[in-house]
Amino acid sequence: MTLDGKRILLIVSGGIAAYKCLEAIRLLRRRGVAVRCILTRGGAQFVTPLSLAALSENRVHEDLFSLTDEHEMGHIQLSRAADLVVVAPASADILAKMASGLASGLATTVLLATDKPVMAAPAMNVRMWEHPSTQANIKTLSARGVRFIGPVEGDMACGEFGMGRLVEPEALVSAIEDFFQRQGRLQGRAALVTSGPTHEAIDPVRYIANRSSGKQGHAIAQALADMGAQTTLVSGPTHQPDPAGVSVVHVQSAREMLAACEDALPVDVAVAAAAVSDWRLSEPAASKIKKDAGKPRLELIENPDILASLGEAGNRRPKLVVGFAAETENVIDNGAAKRQRKGCDWIIANDVSPDSGTFGGEVNTVHLITTDGVDSWPTLSKVQVARRLAVRIANALDPTQDPTPGIGA
Ligand code: CTP
Repeated sequence: MTLDGKRILLIVSGGIAAYKCLEAIRLLRRRGVAVRCILTRGGAQFVTPLSLAALSENRVHEDLFSLTDEHEMGHIQLSRAADLVVVAPASADILAKMASGLASGLATTVLLATDKPVMAAPAMNVRMWEHPSTQANIKTLSARGVRFIGPVEGDMACGEFGMGRLVEPEALVSAIEDFFQRQGRLQGRAALVTSGPTHEAIDPVRYIANRSSGKQGHAIAQALADMGAQTTLVSGPTHQPDPAGVSVVHVQSAREMLAACEDALPVDVAVAAAAVSDWRLSEPAASKIKKDAGKPRLELIENPDILASLGEAGNRRPKLVVGFAAETENVIDNGAAKRQRKGCDWIIANDVSPDSGTFGGEVNTVHLITTDGVDSWPTLSKVQVARRLAVRIANALDPTQDPTPGIGA
C-alpha cells in the first residue's frame, strides 16, 4: 500500500512517550506522507517544536491565538486539510477533553472542528488507563468513531508495569497504512442503507413508531462511505447527526422509505437496518382525533416490505442485499428463516430483547447468516460492527482483493 500523497495532522500531547512520535514522523515521511504537527503545551515538555518541524519538514502549530498561524492557515482549515488526524501520544487529559467536547487549546479546538477521521494512540500510567473515567471516555469516543490503536502492556516510565504504553512507531504507521488501505476498497461502488424507525401517522399529531435509535444504520452508512462507497442513507426520524460524506434522505413513513430506496437504485449493496413499522393505519385521520368522539378504532394494514422488494428488484437488484433480523428469541433460527423469506443474501441477526441493551444502546451482539452458515461476532460497539460489516461487504464485492470467501460467506 502506498501512502504517497496522504496528509496527516499529528497531534502530540503530553507524555514521556512523545519521543516515539519523532520516529513515526520519520517513517511516515519516508512513505511520502505529508505530516503537519500540533504540539500541546504538555507535549512541548517532552519534545521540542524544532525537532517536530525538522522531521515533518513543516512548521509546527502550538498556539490557538497565533496571528501568524491564523493568517497562514486558520485552525478550522488546519482541521480539515488532512486525510486523517492522529493523536499520538493521546494523554488521559486530551482524551477527557475530546470526550467532553472542550476546546481549550489549539489541539482540542481542531479536534472539535474536524470532519476528518480521527485515530488516537493512548499512552498513560496503568492506573490512569484503568480508571473508570478514562475507560468511559474511550467508550464515548469509540462510539463516535474515533479509532484507537493500543495502548500496549509493558514497563512504564513511572516504574510500574501494565497497560498504558504507547504502541511502537512501526505499529502506529502500520495502523495508519491499514486505515488508508481499507478506505479506498469501496471506491466506485454505490451503497444504500436504511436506518431508524418509521413513523406511521394516526392523525396529524400522533403516530405509531418503535424504539430504534438509528445508531447501527447510521454507523453502517458512515463505515461504507469511509471506505469510499458513494452512499445513500434513507433514514426515518432519529436524533443521529447525518454521517459525513453520505447523501441522506429523511423520510417519515415506510412508504416514503420504499420510494426513496427505489430512487437510489441501482446500487452494488443495500443494507436494510431500519426498524420499519410492519403496519400503518388504513386511513389516518385528517384532523386530530378528539377524546369526546369515544374510543377510536384503529384499523391497520400491512406496510410494504422494503428489504423483500430490494431482494426482488429484478435487474435492478443490488449485487448484495443485507437485512437485519431483530429477534427476541431463537435469534439464529428466526434470522435464517428471515433470510430465505426475504430473498436477501445475508442476514445480521441480533437479540433486541430488553435485557440485551441493543435498542438505543451503544453495543450489538450479532450473527452474520449467509448461505454458508453462521458467523457469530463478539459483542462490539455499533461502530465496530459497522466497520466489520463494511470490510465483509468489500470482500464480497471484490473477492480478488481478499482471500476470505465472497457473497456466499
Ligand atoms: N424490513 C423492511 N420493511 C419492512 C419490515 C422489515 O425493509 N416493512 C426489513 C428490516 O429493515 C430488516 C428486516 O426487514 O432488515 C427484518 O426486520 P424485522 O423487523 O426483524 O422483521 P419483520 O419482517 O418485521 O418480521 P417479524 O417482525 O415478524 O419478525
